[in-house]
Amino acid sequence: MSSSQRLSLPKHKIRILLLEGIHDSAVNYLKNQGYLEVKRLKGALEGDALKEALQGVHIVGIRSRTQLTADIIQSANRLMAIGCFCIGTNQVDLPAARMAGIPVFNAPFSNTRSVAELVMGEIVMLLRRIPSRSEACHRGDWEKSASNAWEVRGKTIGIVGYGSIGSQLSVLAESFGLRVLYYDIAPRLPHGNAIATETLNDLLSQSDIVTLHVPETPDTRNLIGEAEIRAMKPNSILLNNARGTVVDLEALARALRDGHLMGAAIDVFPVEPKSAQERFVSPLQGIENVLLTPHIGGSTMEAQERIGVEVASKLVEYSDVGSTIGAVNFPQVQLSEGPRGMRFMHVHSNQPGIIKQINDIFAAAECNLTSQFLQTDGELGYVVVEATPNQGSNATELEQDLLRKLRALDGTLRARLIHPVSQG
Ligand code: NAI
Repeated sequence: MSSSQRLSLPKHKIRILLLEGIHDSAVNYLKNQGYLEVKRLKGALEGDALKEALQGVHIVGIRSRTQLTADIIQSANRLMAIGCFCIGTNQVDLPAARMAGIPVFNAPFSNTRSVAELVMGEIVMLLRRIPSRSEACHRGDWEKSASNAWEVRGKTIGIVGYGSIGSQLSVLAESFGLRVLYYDIAPRLPHGNAIATETLNDLLSQSDIVTLHVPETPDTRNLIGEAEIRAMKPNSILLNNARGTVVDLEALARALRDGHLMGAAIDVFPVEPKSAQERFVSPLQGIENVLLTPHIGGSTMEAQERIGVEVASKLVEYSDVGSTIGAVNFPQVQLSEGPRGMRFMHVHSNQPGIIKQINDIFAAAECNLTSQFLQTDGELGYVVVEATPNQGSNATELEQDLLRKLRALDGTLRARLIHPVSQG
């Protein structure tokens, strides 16, 4: 059988397309792992150009601008995995990818440190009223005074959302001499001497600095509105490096203008410009001691480099081994590297009897099943089967025959031979 007729591809023939200028670290990682067919483009693609570029591509890597709609996903004739080299995955139609048997991976942890460091910097800048003083110096004015300028040490920081970023920040803040309070809806172990408050209001009423690190959910929409801002201590500061919908910016602007709050640092907005050509508009513009930044909390060279490796390694794990750990739209299966015999993956509609039918295919071929990893998640099932061929069979023919039968099963969304024994 010629290699073009084979139903399973050796990995150096797997075609990878990376869009939107993904970091060198991803390309290097993929090449080091034996993936040589990597094409990288600087910009995003859309519509027919995107459809065309995806023909014959097995793995695509994107950032936030490429829209992988259901239509695009369905037209991609070879696509088996999607890597979002960023945090968000809203740009991909996740249910459509899922029902096409395509897992989607992202990099939720790579920029945690970058955000936590920015928060520490912003706290010092705001407590010393640096934004307006720096502007004054640029204008030629000399505003030298200690009035309402404060050290960080000994103040209380209230962290709302004690997940990856919140807890990392907790460690930095404590080593800076801050007393740390936190509030989370889930039970979270405190780091160092941090103390959990029972309610959000307990945190707001005791903190000199309130910083938000919650996800965007229906519950966190306007989590910090007029009442919560007024519950904050007079002369305290508010920082939002989480998501724009969490704070009512009109209420915040009023509290800053009437002097209830001393300052604010805001990196994320309910509506953000989609490109550098669009104007940025916010009720906070022009207010003293307010730091406004263009959603760059996680944007550092180090984070970009880590994102490249984090997502590339998840894609390689899936392609080489079949593991789906970290996929945002797929049942999670973790596998060891070394298979015992042939290893097949099978994605199917989660319908009764399908596992029996899969096992029957192997039994009829007199194969010995060495292991089976199954996870289901709602309407989707993902199983990885390892089997050894019976002695005397032609391994290549057997593998292709088994794969054909697996693909022909009613309810199959995708089947792939991950480790052939025929290649040794
Ligand atoms: P995470 O998922 O690790 O932590 C979020 C925490 O918030 C969890 O512990 C969760 O239980 C808690 N939470 C959820 N709803 C809550 C509520 N109503 N009240 C209190 N706590 C609640 O997320 P991670 O990685 O720490 O990210 C936090 C936020 O930072 C996210 O919104 C993320 O999108 C944003 N982010 C912003 C960046 C930027 O560039 N500015 C970069 C990276 C993340």
